[in-house]
Amino acid sequence: MDSHSGFAQVDSHKSALKQQQVPAMQVSELNVDGLRTDDGSATFPLVLNSNQTVSLHETAAWLTENSESLNRKAFEHGAILFRGFPLVTAQDFDAFVAAFNLPNFTYEDSLSNAVRTNRTPRVFTANEAPADVSIFLHHEMAQTPIYPSKLFFFCEQTAEQGGATPICRSDVLFGRLTKELPNFATDCVKKGLLYSHIMPAADDAASGMGRSWQSTWKATTPEQAEARMTSLGYTWQWQNNGCLKVTTPRLQAVRDLGDGRTSFFNQLIAAFRGWKDTRNDPSKSITFGDGTALDKATMQRVIDMAEEITFNIPWQTGDVALVDNYVAMHGRRTFQGTRKVLASLVAS
Ligand code: FE2
Repeated sequence: MDSHSGFAQVDSHKSALKQQQVPAMQVSELNVDGLRTDDGSATFPLVLNSNQTVSLHETAAWLTENSESLNRKAFEHGAILFRGFPLVTAQDFDAFVAAFNLPNFTYEDSLSNAVRTNRTPRVFTANEAPADVSIFLHHEMAQTPIYPSKLFFFCEQTAEQGGATPICRSDVLFGRLTKELPNFATDCVKKGLLYSHIMPAADDAASGMGRSWQSTWKATTPEQAEARMTSLGYTWQWQNNGCLKVTTPRLQAVRDLGDGRTSFFNQLIAAFRGWKDTRNDPSKSITFGDGTALDKATMQRVIDMAEEITFNIPWQTGDVALVDNYVAMHGRRTFQGTRKVLASLVAS
């Protein structure tokens, strides 16, 4: 599948002078082990490989010129892995993302449960949970009413072992759920979901969901937090130890992608499997929107079905992945050694 991608070459239609200054970029599709084409869907992910003689400046020009087409391909394929592009630092990654001219989605504005650290205004560390903690498949922030449309990941440094980013097409998964578990699929569509969890009174970096209520709600007092929660439709209970238990308003469990596809757009798998820390019990973290419980055996089958169609991004240092958050879920495998994967989010 090493075919030419058909993308415009940089400045090919511009002045001769500029053509001399900016050599044409050759970007082609690359075949890597394990690519998926489940149920006749477009190759997942699309892998684009660049020759390595280009500069970051030339790369940015190519990205800007092809931004629309790349976004379309990310939506069609679910994700794009960019390999062989000249990125080394967080600043390089910032420039790569900025070249798409898409609106930034800031961590501060998000209601993300995870503790993160900004490296540049639009680049931050991916979930800083310990290496032996799995982050299970989820759509970014689909457990809140405010979520990004796309995510970029950048591998600044591969782990010594493990640390792949699993990605899974939710449109393929939901298609299979409607066939194998039709009652569950109908409940997802009709009832939606409620998520509950307990936020600590101070950031707890040892947990994948350790962001404090003060940081989450941008509040210094309980009254300010309550005002923000009220405006977003949350309910809550203060705990004796200063922690805060919150429950979301009813949120969608599926998303109509507008082209005949429907995705399993939620955090059901992550919440059911992994919202576990010293404060939280995953069995209490999620129900259907009418408060009815999720069946454990059904959920186990959903988890297995997602795993069957998951691709594990085999990170190489310098790789970038663009994930369409409406189409594909992502997670994090456990690892050994130091792993540096940075993230940047795109607003809707
Ligand atoms: Fe995530």
